[in-house]
Amino acid sequence: MDINTKLLHGYPVVDPFTGAASIPKYQTSTFNQKDLTGPKQPYSYTRFGNPTVAALEEGYAHLTNATHALAFASGMAAISNILMLLKSGDHVILPIEVYGGTCQFATAILPSYNIEAEFIDMSSIKNIEQHIRENTKMIYIETPSNPLLKVSDIKGITDLASEKGIMTVADNTFMTALYQQPLELGVDIVIESATKFINGHSDVVCGLIATNDEAIYEKLVLFQKNFGGIVGVDDAWLVLRGMKTMGLRMERSVYNAEKIAEFLLTQEKVAKVYYPTLSQHPLSDVHKKQAANGGAVLSFELRDEEALNSFIEKKQIPILAVSLGGVESIISHPTTMSHACLTEEERRHQGISNTLLRLSCGIEDLDDLLQDLEQALN
Ligand SMILES: Cc1ncc(COP(=O)(O)O)c(C=O)c1O
Repeated sequence: MDINTKLLHGYPVVDPFTGAASIPKYQTSTFNQKDLTGPKQPYSYTRFGNPTVAALEEGYAHLTNATHALAFASGMAAISNILMLLKSGDHVILPIEVYGGTCQFATAILPSYNIEAEFIDMSSIKNIEQHIRENTKMIYIETPSNPLLKVSDIKGITDLASEKGIMTVADNTFMTALYQQPLELGVDIVIESATKFINGHSDVVCGLIATNDEAIYEKLVLFQKNFGGIVGVDDAWLVLRGMKTMGLRMERSVYNAEKIAEFLLTQEKVAKVYYPTLSQHPLSDVHKKQAANGGAVLSFELRDEEALNSFIEKKQIPILAVSLGGVESIISHPTTMSHACLTEEERRHQGISNTLLRLSCGIEDLDDLLQDLEQALN
C-alpha cells in the first residue's frame, strides 16, 4: 500500500457497529457491562481505553508498521511517560538541542527521581559512545532537531545502543512516519507530537507512541492508565480526521519547503539557511539515507536585527506563532519563543542566534509564499 491509500485503509476507518464512514466520537466516560460473569468486554472506562482513541492508536501503529501504539493528551504527555520508564540511578543521553519541553522535563523533574540527564552533541557516534556509562539506560534521539535541523545517524545510534543493551527513543515529529521510520532503523520507541503534521490544522494537542516491544508497551499501558494522560475523545477524533489528508498536505508542504530553502539561499539579507537536504548541510548524506525528503520545516538567519524586525513587520502570509505542522505557514522566533527559557549563553552554545527564524511551510501556493517572503526581505 502506498502512503495515501495507507492513510485511508488498513485500520479502523469505518465504525464496526453502524458502518458509519467516520469513526464516531464515543463521548462516554464509562461503558455498560452486560453481566458480572460473562466474557470481559473490550471497554470499561475511557481512561483505560475508548473505541475512538483505539482507532487512532491502531492508525498510528499501521503508519509506523508497529505492533503497538498509544495515544496521549499531548506530545509532552507521551514524552514524559516514556522518560518515566527510567528508574532511580539511571542515566539518559539526549541531544543538546532537544525540544524545550523535553529538556525542561529532563532537567526540572527527572533529578527528583534520581535520574540523570546528559545533553550532548549527537551528530557524532563517537561522541555518543564516549558519553555512555554503566548506568546509561536510554538514548533519546531527535532528528532533524529543532530549530537548526541538526541530523543524527539513527541506525548508527541503534547499533551502538543494542550492543550495550540501551533502550533507544526517537522523537519523529519533524519527519513523521510518512518520511522517516525510526522503528525500522532499530529504535525501540518512537514518539510524535500529533499536534503538528499528523493532525495538521493547529487545533489539537496530542501525542502518539509506537513500539514493537511487548514489555515496553505493557508498561506504557499501565502509565497511560495510572498517570491518566490518555488523549480525550474529541481530540482523538480530530487527529483521526486530520491523518486522512496528511499525505497530500505534507507533499505540498515539503515541496514548498524545498523551494523556499533554495530561494532563501539567494537572498542577500539571509545569512544562513538550515534545511537537511541542502548540500550545505553537514550531514545531508546521513539524512537522505534515513529519510525520504527534507521535511516541511526550515530555519534561516537574517543578517542583522534590523532585517529581522522589518521582516516580521512586513510578512503577511505566515502567522507568527510557536508550533509547526499546520496547513498554514508558521514562522517562529526561537530566541523569544521555543528557546526563551535558555540563557543567551546557552542559546549561543547551541548555535541559536537572535536573528534566527524557523519556518514551518504550510500548503499555500508557492508563488504567493515566495512573493511574500521576497517583499518582506526587501
Ligand atoms: C519536536 C517536538 N517534540 C515534542 C513536542 C511537544 O509536543 P506537544 O506540544 O504536543 O506537547 C514539540 C512541540 O512543539 C516538538 O516540536
